[in-house]
Amino acid sequence: MELTDIIEGNTRLLVPVGEKLSKKNPVFFNPGMELSRDISVAAARISGVNRFCDLLAGSGARGVRISNEVNCDVVVNDINKRAYDLINRNIELNNLNAKATNLEANILLSNERFDFTDIDPFGSPTRFLESAIRATNNGGILGITATDTAALCGTYPKACRRKYDAVPLRTDYYNELGLRILIGFTARLAARYDISTIPIFSHCTRHYFRTYLRVSLSGKKSKDSLKNINFLQHCFNCLNRRIASIDEIREKCECGGRFRNSGLLWTGNFADSEFCRLLEGELSAGKFNKKKEAIKLTGMIANEQAISNPYYNIHKLFRKIKRPARPMEDIIDRLNSEGFKAERTHFSGTGLRTDASVSEIYNILEN
Ligand SMILES: C[S@@+](CC[C@H](N)C(=O)[O-])C[C@H]1O[C@@H](n2cnc3c(N)ncnc32)[C@H](O)[C@@H]1O
Repeated sequence: MELTDIIEGNTRLLVPVGEKLSKKNPVFFNPGMELSRDISVAAARISGVNRFCDLLAGSGARGVRISNEVNCDVVVNDINKRAYDLINRNIELNNLNAKATNLEANILLSNERFDFTDIDPFGSPTRFLESAIRATNNGGILGITATDTAALCGTYPKACRRKYDAVPLRTDYYNELGLRILIGFTARLAARYDISTIPIFSHCTRHYFRTYLRVSLSGKKSKDSLKNINFLQHCFNCLNRRIASIDEIREKCECGGRFRNSGLLWTGNFADSEFCRLLEGELSAGKFNKKKEAIKLTGMIANEQAISNPYYNIHKLFRKIKRPARPMEDIIDRLNSEGFKAERTHFSGTGLRTDASVSEIYNILEN
């Protein structure tokens, strides 16, 4: 296997040269996930984590970085022997006392407890979720990556039903629905064990979703968290959308169009604004190659939390009313001056998040 020497954060890493897995290149490393690893390091630092688990570590980049850049115990695991060997080399290279293991992930989790359990799989994280929920200490963090965005976002609705027990919907804000399905599914799994998993930070970046969930061993909190599990109703005729519990589901939209439904999904905040501010501070103070991008992301995500309605695609709104598009800032200013909240969203450059109803938005865009 041909290796190259790189530096992420404060850590030296030996990683495979090619990104494609093959016989010659049997260990996984994706340089495109550096932003996600930078944010994980910052999240672990501000959370006072004592014991971190990189469950599906590949070359060990995330776990080795946490061991080096956060003052805590780390277990770095991969089922692949060649990955395990490389993890050990990376631990030695940085002079760390992190522990490498070569176990099946669920077996490792059945015997250990962590303050931060990180799942970064190929595709869907679902096969590891139950064990990871149960292996995370009270008050700890569960970090989840999902790259099966085609299932979560509605390209393969059957795969979403099978893996996440939820119906996706190919709306213009499908990526937001996908993230909310992932968070909602995890919360429902956790609730079976009287555990709550509340998102403190989540993002959708390029081909993946990433969420950080605060784990609490509390029957009351898990019961309360289920208030955030609902359906989303969308009207393809006028682009109206509404959040509804099972008792509130309506067949028809005010415009006469038929509602299509998605869910169950998480309809609460997908990040905690205070945690975002702490992250921003930590990212600004530390050495991170993706600092600029990460700070912009955390700032945007903090602002978005003021509005729980899914975002609108402004081009679609203008197309509906057959008017030429106007700049986003003008629309946000107009909505604000009419007393509505309005923000950009990290999900899309043409995304507008607002608490105005769809008819109120059309009114403003037309005048
Ligand atoms: C997407 S890669 C991890 C990438 C890594 N976290 C990074 O930041 O570069 C997923 C890894 O999970 C490992 N894996 C897959 N199934 C596993 C299982 N059941 N138990 C443990 N490791 C597993 C694979 O060998 C692979 O290295």
